[in-house]
Amino acid sequence: MKRWLYLIIAVAFLAGGILSIALAQPDKVTIDNKYPNKLKGPVPLSHKLHASTVACTKCHHTWKKEERQTPQKCAECHKADDTGEKGLKRAYHKQCQDCHKDLEKQGKKTGPTVKCSGCHPSKTD
Ligand code: HEC
Ligand code: HEC
Ligand code: HEC
Ligand code: HEC
Repeated sequence: MKRWLYLIIAVAFLAGGILSIALAQPDKVTIDNKYPNKLKGPVPLSHKLHASTVACTKCHHTWKKEERQTPQKCAECHKADDTGEKGLKRAYHKQCQDCHKDLEKQGKKTGPTVKCSGCHPSKTD
């Protein structure tokens, strides 16, 4: 009898855990860091599609799950006004495009590599 109770509790914990992981990330994200001159429009990211094939920490590369429940925004560390190595635009372009290019080389299914409109659907919003 007792064993059943333990089993039920264990299953409930497991289901709760899976649910909280599922809830901890958005389906879609619109990346819009409000650059002052707005040369290109915001970038929609199918977050769920990506997270189903790519590890969270591949993109959220500084995230320590045991320390915080959700990752920090990229812009907290990569600044929009920084045009150097660590600048925000460069960080995004490098992360998004490098992965797509690598996959393309391997002949795998991937996203846009260089074509601007593949990620920036409109010039302005
Ligand atoms: C392909 C890259 C990529 C992968 C893989 C990915 N994310 Fe994200 N995620 C992003 C980007 C980009 C944003 C927008 C971040 C920003 O605005 O600074 C984001 C936003 C988020 C947000 C919202 C943060 C906020 O403050 O608005 C959460 C939560 C999140 N991701 C969790 C996860 C979890 C959990 C996983 C793994 C299951 C994951 N992400 C996988 C790129 C990714
Ligand atoms: C807590 C701070 C922090 C957050 C949050 C963060 N980064 Fe970084 N990132 C860094 C630091 C520091 C470096 C440089 C050191 C290194 O290479 O690890 C870096 C390096 C990078 C690089 C390599 C740059 C190069 O020239 O090789 C890319 C690409 C990148 N980040 C993209 C992102 C993206 C995209 C996000 C959001 C999904 C993000 N980072 C979130 C701190 C952060
Ligand atoms: C580590 C690898 C990786 C990174 C990083 C990555 N992607 Fe992708 N991306 C993929 C893969 C794999 C696919 C194809 C998924 C599929 O169709 O099954 C894809 C598909 C796409 C597509 C086409 C499908 C769709 O969502 O409409 C877009 C657009 C896209 N990515 C945008 C982005 C943006 C913007 C970023 C950076 C914030 C990014 N990707 C970062 C691997 C990556
Ligand atoms: C793989 C996806 C991807 C491709 C392809 C891409 N970008 Fe981006 N780009 C992004 C992401 C993500 C951001 C961050 C969005 C933001 O902050 O508004 C960004 C930001 C920018 C910004 C700074 C934001 C602004 O509105 O001023 C400029 C400028 C830009 N991209 C130009 C280009 C140009 C030009 C091309 C084509 C040669 C291009 N991008 C192709 C993903 C991409």
